[in-house]
Amino acid sequence: MRFSKFAERFASHSGTRQLMDDLGQLQHSDLEILNLGGGNPSRIPEVHDWFSNKLRELATARELDNTFAAYDSPQGNQPFIRAFARFLSAHCGWPISASNVLCTAGSQASFFLLFNAFSGAYATGEKRRILLPQMPEYIGYTDLCLEADAIFSVPSKIALTGDHRFRYSLDTVALEQLDGTVGAICISRPTNPTGNAISNADLEWLLRLAEARDIPLILDNAYGNPLPGILFPTELSPPRWSKHLVACFSLSKLGLPGLRTGMVVADEALIDVLISANATLALANNSLGARLVLDLLVDDQLAVFAKQIIRPFYATKSRQAIAYCDAAFVGLDYRIHESDGAIFLWVWFAGLPITAQALYQRLKQRGVLVIPGHHFGPGHSGASKHLEECIRISYAQPEATLQRGIAAIADEVRAAYIRGQQ
Ligand SMILES: Cc1ncc(COP(=O)(O)O)c(C=O)c1O
Repeated sequence: MRFSKFAERFASHSGTRQLMDDLGQLQHSDLEILNLGGGNPSRIPEVHDWFSNKLRELATARELDNTFAAYDSPQGNQPFIRAFARFLSAHCGWPISASNVLCTAGSQASFFLLFNAFSGAYATGEKRRILLPQMPEYIGYTDLCLEADAIFSVPSKIALTGDHRFRYSLDTVALEQLDGTVGAICISRPTNPTGNAISNADLEWLLRLAEARDIPLILDNAYGNPLPGILFPTELSPPRWSKHLVACFSLSKLGLPGLRTGMVVADEALIDVLISANATLALANNSLGARLVLDLLVDDQLAVFAKQIIRPFYATKSRQAIAYCDAAFVGLDYRIHESDGAIFLWVWFAGLPITAQALYQRLKQRGVLVIPGHHFGPGHSGASKHLEECIRISYAQPEATLQRGIAAIADEVRAAYIRGQQ
């Protein structure tokens, strides 16, 4: 049996697949696992209980009947879409309505549609690519474009901000010099894996760059404001509304990753195209997530959850995780990226004598999972010494897991200096 080019792309396993397979294998072994590798959000008791109770209440009142026994429209659940547009108008000041919103099967699915809507062959005969204006960037962007080499990234600049801290920033000089083959710009804010969130000024700069080129700026808001609210510096605000802005949201990091619901907010003409694509791909989405969150939108309880529960919960966890690292890594040459949000710490061991992949393997043998840095270079060809010195640690785990996992990382990094590359 021969495969098409489409299938061949998936026949050679992606980094994401390898990591998921590793995790699956470990779960079936006898080893106790300290999983600092995955992207699962924490189970925040108040939020988790609210969802469980609401589910029970809706099921008892038979209000879920239409949710599971009927297809929604390919745009998504209409009451949810209307309420979400009102919620964003209120919290971001955007002059939008229901026709600016589409629901998808999670934001990973949104990016699949968007990246292929703006990369590859155009009717004019030109070929365009997706630009990631920062790198390191989200691993999930890596294999989304159906055409080869249709995504590229510009490595971020590094600034040392304190004894054991650093920060990335946009290389605006390199970004200004790009040619006309860019079909869309995409950035996550805050960023998975680094926890970086670009400033208001840099975001406005990117939006103007997109407008000047008449291409979209895709803003991945999987962790940001107004939902789920895992963004710590209070001065960071949403961008202004623009025909060129495509804002992507998700219910996953609110605590509902299993319900696979994403929202794309964009100019009506683009939403119209995406509705048709979504109808072809899925007919309609799972509407359970939308139905559950609808009641949080109606009385603005979602904003209260984001600001008063979710944000402080993760801000505390981030500070704790940094404190564990600072205590465990004493004497090592390490730097942690400033933690603006998302659920990860990004740690750079400058001069590490082994690759982050080798460190990952050694940790895995002890049942400790982290993600090695080289996976976070989507659109970057060739090796990057910097990425090979970095690892991503999820701090969404319970405190004891985090503390023991970080201690194990410190052990293995120290051992690497003693043993060298063997
Ligand atoms: C930056 C970023 N974007 C998008 C996603 C995909 O989220 P989902 O498909 O669950 O909505 C994730 C998941 O971890 C993420 O970290």
